[in-house]
Amino acid sequence: MKQILVTGAVGQIGSELVLALRNRYGASNVIASDIRVPENGELKTSGPFETLDVLDPNSITRIMQLYDIGTVYHLAAVLSAIGESRPSVAWQINMNGLYNFLEAARQYHLALFFPSSIGAFGKSTPQDGTPQDTIQRPDTIYGVTKVAGELLCDYYHKRFKVDTRGVRFPGLISHVAEPGGGTTDYAVSIFYDAIKHKKFTCYLKSDTYLDMMYMPDALRAMIELMEADPAKLIHRNSFNVSAMHFTPEQLSAEIKKHVRGFEIDYDIDPVRQAIADSWPNYMDDSCARKEWGWKPEYDMPRMVKDMMEKLTAKLQ
Ligand code: SER
Repeated sequence: MKQILVTGAVGQIGSELVLALRNRYGASNVIASDIRVPENGELKTSGPFETLDVLDPNSITRIMQLYDIGTVYHLAAVLSAIGESRPSVAWQINMNGLYNFLEAARQYHLALFFPSSIGAFGKSTPQDGTPQDTIQRPDTIYGVTKVAGELLCDYYHKRFKVDTRGVRFPGLISHVAEPGGGTTDYAVSIFYDAIKHKKFTCYLKSDTYLDMMYMPDALRAMIELMEADPAKLIHRNSFNVSAMHFTPEQLSAEIKKHVRGFEIDYDIDPVRQAIADSWPNYMDDSCARKEWGWKPEYDMPRMVKDMMEKLTAKLQ
């Protein structure tokens, strides 16, 4: 088989996706790459790892010459909150990195996965049951790069027949790698603080709804979409995918069932609160369900139970 390249492999999604892909397609067929060196030993020892700067077309060419790549999961990106503190870096990495890989996909006939996000929506978007095709006027540089990325991927598909595919992820929750610099990160940190201190201070208001997903579902979404029959895909970039939605108060109530005496209080960060307020409460993912059979397995209680078990074991 042709090989698979994952960019941003050291990040929150990449560090788990690489291992899932290696299990499925064979270790030597999945090349992990990042500008950072992995701390997670398994990422390096379980298969090939290459240092790669997505802004440098020469290092992309080098990888294409070294390996027989057929598919790229292009995950290297800056998240929403960091993006607001460093907009120019976010534009460079999120936009120019994607452009370099779309060009490589055109030249080397690669299939390309691009993760978009709930961040691609804004205040004028319907927030409950956000439709697949709707108003997209985000207020963050992260969101601007995600909307532009969706459009650019569609353009490369229509204009150059590049096999581009993508989803709009909700906030992702996992017990392996922590996210860095996002708005939805509280839904991961809360578990660490609940287990270590029985107390968590949340930077979002207690009643802020956000769309969320557990990482095993997110990994399956990416792999299933890339394996889907292209003839059935009408949307390609980017499918709404949804699994659960909740407020910090509701999440903490569920965690209390596992951690006796757990307490949450609130110290609002206005930047992240404004971002969260502009994002959907939950998306309508019926197109993904219809076009490639998407179906989540984890609802909130099941995710919390699994997170508590896995993280408690990890932090012991
Ligand atoms: N999880 C991301 C963030 O919070 C959104 O896609 O920035």
